[in-house]
Amino acid sequence: MGPGSSSDGVEQGSVTVALLLSGVGVVHPGGRRALESVDLSVAAGERIALIGPSGAGKTTLLRVAGASLRPTEGRVELLGAGPWGLGAGALRRLRARIGAVHQAPPLPPRQRVVTAVLAGRLGQWTVGRALWSLVHPADTEGAHDALDQLGLADRLFDRCDRLSGGQLQRVAVARVLYQRPDLLLADEPVSSLDRATSELLVSRLVAQSESTGAALVASLHAVDLALKWFPRVVGVRAGRVVFDLPAGDVTPALLQALYEGDAVAAVPAPDGVAAATAAAMMCR
Ligand SMILES: Nc1ncnc2c1ncn2[C@@H]1O[C@H](COP(=O)(O)OP(=O)(O)OP(=O)(O)O)[C@@H](O)[C@H]1O
Ligand SMILES: [Mg+2]
Repeated sequence: MGPGSSSDGVEQGSVTVALLLSGVGVVHPGGRRALESVDLSVAAGERIALIGPSGAGKTTLLRVAGASLRPTEGRVELLGAGPWGLGAGALRRLRARIGAVHQAPPLPPRQRVVTAVLAGRLGQWTVGRALWSLVHPADTEGAHDALDQLGLADRLFDRCDRLSGGQLQRVAVARVLYQRPDLLLADEPVSSLDRATSELLVSRLVAQSESTGAALVASLHAVDLALKWFPRVVGVRAGRVVFDLPAGDVTPALLQALYEGDAVAAVPAPDGVAAATAAAMMCR
C-alpha cells in the first residue's frame, strides 16, 4: 500500500478521475424516474456546470455524485472508490472529502455562523474534537478567513436565523471553502443572490477548485454564469444528459431545445446570439 492510501481503499492522495457515473438511473420513492442512463466523467480539477429546466434531475445527479443517494441502476466512482461497496467508516471518510453546497442550505437556525463554517471539517476531525468545536469554536481565524472571502466576516458570531437567504447561501459556500474538499458539488449556489454576489460566489468556488485541484460540479439556473465560469457545460433534461460540451460550443439552438416548454424559461429566438440567449435566461 503506498503512502496516502488507507487500508479500506479510500485513497487520501490525488486521483485523476474525481467522479465517474456509468449508466446511472434513479427512480425516487413513489416511482418517479429522475435519471436514466447517465454517463459522466469528471477529472480532478475539472469544472463542470449542469444546466437544464426545473425537474430535469440536476439535484438528483448531484446527490448521487455526493454519495448521499444510491442510484437504482449503474455504477458510481468517487475519488477512486465505489461508495456503495464501502463499509460505514470508509464511506464516512469518503464523504468527508466531498463538499456539498445545497440548493437550500440545511443550517440549524440557532447555530452560530462560526460553528456552521467550522462544521465543514467535522468529518475530518476526531469525534472528541468535533464535539468540542460545537461548544468552543476552535479555529475562528479559519472560519473568519473563509467568510471574509464572501464579504461576511462581520457576521462570524451571528446566529444563522438572523441571516437572509442569500447570506445563508454564502455561509454554506464559506463552509466548503473551509472544508477544502477534493470534490466540490454545488446545487444552485446562487439562487438567492443578486448578480454581483453571484459572480463573487461562483468566482470563489472556481478559485478554490484552481488552487486545491478539486473538481467542481455546479448546477446553475443562470446560464450566462455557467458559460462564463465553466469550461464544460452539461445539459440535463428529463433525467438524461442531452449535451456535454465545451462552453464555447453551446449554441442558442441547443439552449432553446434544452429549455423548450419550460414555463419559467425565456426561450431565445433561434437566430439569437449566445450572449443574448444567456442574458435572457440569466434570472430564471
Ligand atoms: N425525494 C424525492 N422523492 C420523489 N421524487 C423526487 C424526489 N426528489 C426529486 N424528485 C423528482 O425527481 C425529478 C428530478 O428532480 P430534481 O430535484 O433532481 O430536479 P432539478 O433539475 O434539480 O430541478 P430544479 O431546477 O427545480 O431544482 C422531479 O420530477 C422530482 O419531482
Ligand atoms: Mg434542483
